[in-house]
Amino acid sequence: MSDAGGLAALLDGKRIVICAGSGGVGKTTTAAAIAMGMAARGARVAVVTIDPARRLADALGLDALTDEPRLVDPSRFAGHGVRVTGELWAMTLDSKRTFDALIERLAPDAAARDEVLANRIYQQLSTAVAGSQEFTGIAKLYELDAEGDYDLVVLDTPPSRNALDFLDAPGRLIGFFQGRAIRLFLRPAGVGGRLMSAGAGAVFAVMQRATGVDLLADVAAFFRALGGMVDGFTDRARHVEALLADAGTTFVVVSSPAAAPSDEAVFLARRLRRAGMPLGALVVNRVAQAEPGLPVASGQLTEALGPDLAHRAADAAARHARAAERDAEGVTRLVARAGHPPTLVVPQLADDVHDVEGLARVAVHLL
Ligand SMILES: Nc1ncnc2c1ncn2[C@@H]1O[C@H](COP(=O)(O)OP(=O)(O)O)[C@@H](O)[C@H]1O
Ligand SMILES: [Mg+2]
Repeated sequence: MSDAGGLAALLDGKRIVICAGSGGVGKTTTAAAIAMGMAARGARVAVVTIDPARRLADALGLDALTDEPRLVDPSRFAGHGVRVTGELWAMTLDSKRTFDALIERLAPDAAARDEVLANRIYQQLSTAVAGSQEFTGIAKLYELDAEGDYDLVVLDTPPSRNALDFLDAPGRLIGFFQGRAIRLFLRPAGVGGRLMSAGAGAVFAVMQRATGVDLLADVAAFFRALGGMVDGFTDRARHVEALLADAGTTFVVVSSPAAAPSDEAVFLARRLRRAGMPLGALVVNRVAQAEPGLPVASGQLTEALGPDLAHRAADAAARHARAAERDAEGVTRLVARAGHPPTLVVPQLADDVHDVEGLARVAVHLL
């Protein structure tokens, strides 16, 4: 099923790969495996992972406390038969911290920065509103690409309800900063202006009486402090939007052969095509493989194992064969529905992928 040359050939001339798909299908695993595999081929690669499993993070020496990629010590690969002739830089993204870092960079001075960071509204905004988690991921991508030190930047995407959320994030953020609500707040009071309509003011007054929280003061302080940064945000969101459509950017949609992730993958592939964003490849991960020689008739095993164990072994083998058959059908259906993109199939491995050896095993099927 894999195309000759695999992803290594498909990534030729690309600077950015974004791994997308629904939760739990192997996005983080795929991103890490692609990055390691390309570094093993001599490239200078940065990978941005989001919420990597603890043990995978440990294996790559990742800790969540850095905002910049760090060089993975080549000795981490040496013991596992992986020779990295290029460089692997890795970081894990904490979206809240990245949003804060963005504020720190855009704030005109320390006082304005502290005021925004301490603000209750900002704290909500940065964690919950406006797709900030998705946005910070690609904002980071923009920085890494602009710094220009890497041959390839691989981006993992956050576990969102909707795999498409991150595509909309820049636009949503631009919309937010240019929307009516924020312009109302930013309009200087006095220039024909109250801060807000009498109706909205009354709502806030009622809330204050009920909760004791002066939300209005908070909101007003927030938007006043934010005032000087809006252009910076909008500008950055525009750059990010352009980057997603750039010829050097490609998407790898990851799915399992199961129905629900496949639906999401198909939806995502169509959506990318409609948006003029290139679907570089489809990765179907965790595909059960048929074992040659199975299923076995229980009669053949009885002699070796005794009747009871033989029966159970044959049963397990038959179940495995059915799973492999079902997955093979799932892959075929998914590939057709996604419009026959270049497709890589990664087998279900016996263990979770939590170390360099596991990544290498996955990378073989990808690259
Ligand atoms: N081919 C595979 N075989 C076995 N386990 C896998 C495979 N791919 C991923 N996994 C495991 O599945 C879990 C989910 O993978 P992960 O990459 O974290 O998914 P996502 O980032 O899409 O949520 C992890 O525990 C990972 O080790
Ligand atoms: Mg993940």
